[in-house]
Amino acid sequence: MIEQVEALLKRRIGLDAESIGRSAIEHAVRVRRVACGKASLADYIRHLEDSASEQQALVDTVVVPETWFFRAREAIDAMAGIVVDRRFRTGRPQRLLSLPCSTGEEPYSIAMALLDAGLAPEMFHIDGIDISARSLNAAAAAHYGRNAFRSDDLSFRDRWFEATPAGHQLIDRVRAQVRFAIGNLIDPLKTLAAGSYDIIFCRNVLIYFDPATQDHAVDMLTRLLVPDGLLFVGASEASLPLRRGYASMRIPMAAAFRKGGDVPDAALKPRSVKAKPRVGLPPRPVPARPAMAPAPIARPARVDPAPLLDEVQRLADLGRLDEALPLARDCLHKQGPSTRLFYLLGLLSDAAGDLQHATTYYRKALYLDPSHPEALAHLALLREKMGDKAGAGALRGRLNRRLVAG
Ligand SMILES: C[S@@+](CC[C@H](N)C(=O)[O-])C[C@H]1O[C@@H](n2cnc3c(N)ncnc32)[C@H](O)[C@@H]1O
Repeated sequence: MIEQVEALLKRRIGLDAESIGRSAIEHAVRVRRVACGKASLADYIRHLEDSASEQQALVDTVVVPETWFFRAREAIDAMAGIVVDRRFRTGRPQRLLSLPCSTGEEPYSIAMALLDAGLAPEMFHIDGIDISARSLNAAAAAHYGRNAFRSDDLSFRDRWFEATPAGHQLIDRVRAQVRFAIGNLIDPLKTLAAGSYDIIFCRNVLIYFDPATQDHAVDMLTRLLVPDGLLFVGASEASLPLRRGYASMRIPMAAAFRKGGDVPDAALKPRSVKAKPRVGLPPRPVPARPAMAPAPIARPARVDPAPLLDEVQRLADLGRLDEALPLARDCLHKQGPSTRLFYLLGLLSDAAGDLQHATTYYRKALYLDPSHPEALAHLALLREKMGDKAGAGALRGRLNRRLVAG
């Protein structure tokens, strides 16, 4: 009988039940059935099918609203550089969309980054869209507890928030840049106009869809973008725009893609406005493999792990999982374990849908560095996807303690 609810959620919001696990759906249904005072599952399902407001309440209960400020620091830094360039090149305000925006941390982070980059408020507009009415209410209130502040650098909080006894209130200047509305990624043209966005952030939701729905959602976003518009997705979603005709912007860790065609060289070097200085990627890593006949004479020269790992990262950002995964395994074989390598292997396995290996690798990263924030955050999300809410909660507790400790 629970299959009926799964089918309804798939139809309505594109959710693939397997992505979060049947037990997570059963839990949400139990919560809603009790809230509605329905004695049996059959009674609840009858009510659910007839009531749009109950469908919304179930959606609010089942979605994963996990988000935080500057969750995607590299993507936001890259976006700020691109938006500044585009604003001056086109002479018109830039329009950005955060879909899904959850409780608002992502679109507000974009707004803070653009104001920090020196753009005047009238030079850009941001729409924040989500399927969850509950999350949108929180976004509009713009009052945040410590879970929203998990990034390493929290200096933005001093500039753009006022401390209150219960948390931090975002100031009006940032709030005014974002307009929130309910909307559905499966059917966004019902509420949004085609061809109206320069930049879309669609991060960390496509992982909850099956492949056909993922393709459909990316195609919908394509219709919302201007012809040379850019799409930013989550690190583990980077293969999806590529299979729908997007070109990678080749910006490390940003998972940024341009609608259609090849990316011209000039566009590959967006001016990075706030980005921390980065060490450039090595030209092309030389795999530490002997040419033809191995014949090791002496002890092999020590190989610096960083360039190979940078290459794994680069391939992962391009969505080239088929190349990134073997290279990462090769690194493990040749250079031995490291936290960063295990974390990357976790991300890659996650992106390839291999949740068991992803879990193992994140765990190994945490064995080497028990407070590695990204591994904690990703493993928590994975446990949640697999229906283990308690395990996810315990990991988030560790993450919070790590963040409070600084
Ligand atoms: C994990 S959050 C991601 C938030 C933010 N983009 C980030 O990366 O931090 C996923 C969000 O997707 C929303 N969502 C799920 N299905 C959706 C759909 N069909 N249309 C719009 N939003 C959806 C959920 O309500 C939830 O807020």
